[in-house]
Amino acid sequence: MSKILVLGSCGQIGTELVLALRHKHGNQQVIAADLRDDSPQIINNGPYVKLDVLQREEVRTYIIGQKIDEVYLLAALLSATAEKNPDFAWKLNMEGLFTILDLAKEGHIKKVFWPSSIAVFGPTTPANSTPQHTIMEPSTVYGISKQAGERWCEYYHHKFGVDVRSIRYPGLISYKSLPGGGTTDYAVDIFYKAKSEGKFSCFLTENTALPMMFMDDAIRGTIELMEAPAENIKIRSAYNLAGCSFTPAELAAEIKLFVPNFHIDYQPDFRQAIADSWPNSIDDSQAQKDWGWKAQFDTKALVRVMLENVNS
Ligand code: NAD
Ligand code: SER
Repeated sequence: MSKILVLGSCGQIGTELVLALRHKHGNQQVIAADLRDDSPQIINNGPYVKLDVLQREEVRTYIIGQKIDEVYLLAALLSATAEKNPDFAWKLNMEGLFTILDLAKEGHIKKVFWPSSIAVFGPTTPANSTPQHTIMEPSTVYGISKQAGERWCEYYHHKFGVDVRSIRYPGLISYKSLPGGGTTDYAVDIFYKAKSEGKFSCFLTENTALPMMFMDDAIRGTIELMEAPAENIKIRSAYNLAGCSFTPAELAAEIKLFVPNFHIDYQPDFRQAIADSWPNSIDDSQAQKDWGWKAQFDTKALVRVMLENVNS
């Protein structure tokens, strides 16, 4: 049985990923690690350790001592927060990755998951149905760190045989945990405000289309990728993955079907420039072909589940 460590486990993805991995492998097999300890859902039902991914020696000692087989490295600054603190974003997003890739290179870890993002694309990338292989000139510090991370993952795989796997997640929509400082966060916040206040002020303009995905799809895709036979994984940088795609106006129209008096207004801020540099939609045919990926939630399904589950 594999022993799994999820580093950065108390955030938006980690909370749901830990629950899903524990359901699959058993609670004691999946260790949650984070700087934070404010996620009772995962801290109360299995092992938790306070770990700072930037403390390289502590992380090494822990992983080697605990005989960890698989690491999911989620600790990072997201796009909007990263733009406010570029030096630290670069440090956090890169140093943790090297610590884990080096442990895998030395044979201490068998398999690594490290998430990339649609932020690897930039203003010169074809925006519609963005292909797996295309122009990538990211214009944010977050996107630059993710693109560099992709290159290093591929390098460690080809050069040292490291089994590292990755997905370019779109904006993730969830109700079990809150997002942590991204440009796509509006598409979560809107549901809370629709239910509690019946109105929402959006920091993107009404026609800003972005690729999005419901969290259940993202977690299932992550686990399917990690369980796929190694010979099927042809992409060792990161896979494009599509869920759905919508603009704030389209999302608001879907919400209005359930909350008829819902009102949205638009007050774009610095995140508009980040969103404008990203694709509108993603072509994920390579992931479909290599390991059978298929999204289950379209915009309508996502809206219904979110409105049923977010607390007003
Ligand atoms: P999040 O901000 O919600 O969670 C990150 C977690 O990492 C937090 O719990 C935080 O406390 C922890 N962390 C930060 N610094 C740490 C450190 N030094 N040591 C240990 N833990 C630390 O982020 P998320 O949305 O869960 O994203 C996880 C990963 O997925 C990130 O790499 C992110 O770039 C990527 N991603 C997320 C999305 C999305 O829409 N959520 C989309 C694309 C990619
Ligand atoms: N949802 C993420 C962000 O907005 C995309 O990586 O930063």
